[in-house]
Amino acid sequence: MPDYKIAPSILSANFARLGEEVDNVLAAGADWVHFDVMDNHYVPNLTIGPMVCKALRNHGVTAPIDVHLMVEPVDDMIRMFADAGASYITFHPEASKHVDRSLQLIQSLGCKAGLVFNPASSLDAAKYVLDKLDMILLMSVNPGFGGQKFIPTTLGKLKEARKLIDDSGLDIRLEIDGGVTKDNIREIAQAGADSFVAGSAIFNADDYAEVIKVMRSELAQ
Ligand code: DX5
Ligand code: ZN
Repeated sequence: MPDYKIAPSILSANFARLGEEVDNVLAAGADWVHFDVMDNHYVPNLTIGPMVCKALRNHGVTAPIDVHLMVEPVDDMIRMFADAGASYITFHPEASKHVDRSLQLIQSLGCKAGLVFNPASSLDAAKYVLDKLDMILLMSVNPGFGGQKFIPTTLGKLKEARKLIDDSGLDIRLEIDGGVTKDNIREIAQAGADSFVAGSAIFNADDYAEVIKVMRSELAQ
């Protein structure tokens, strides 16, 4: 069985008590914290920045923080998030003029680097930088908001990305983001994902541990 990771998106957490929410979801069995950064420019919404990432580290969060940049441009935010304690930093290739350089910047700052692909974007931008990728993240909704429905054509795209990674022989994680629930996670894993972002499916539930437990049992099928 692949080394599956469950990464709750704190976009759906209660921001009035974020530290406690993150502690609770990690205690409930989550592996990573997915951290959605929106700038009201690359996407039509505005969220949180490096100060909040740093505050979570200062609060005592030691789990990997998976920073998903939905901002344009990316390089300044890469520097600031690396400094704020990010573990993974991923960005959308169309948001950087120099994708290869931005990936190198992430890795040179000691973080793991990834590219994010919107539902209608082809995977072409990944092909020539595979050696600089620790992760490929496929969006299964249009970025900007939590609580949207999984776009089913992403399943075929996951298979394509899985083949690209396997053929390369490189150690690259394949993450999926948007509309992941306990009811579709197995099918998504079968299509090739090994890392699963879930926001509303976890944070809108009364019992985080129960949802994560069911997701893991689906993954073990
Ligand atoms: C959307 C974000 C996602 C989102 C996922 O732009 O990148 O991480 O929070 O939320 P759900 O799981 O509710 O679709
Ligand atoms: Zn995200």
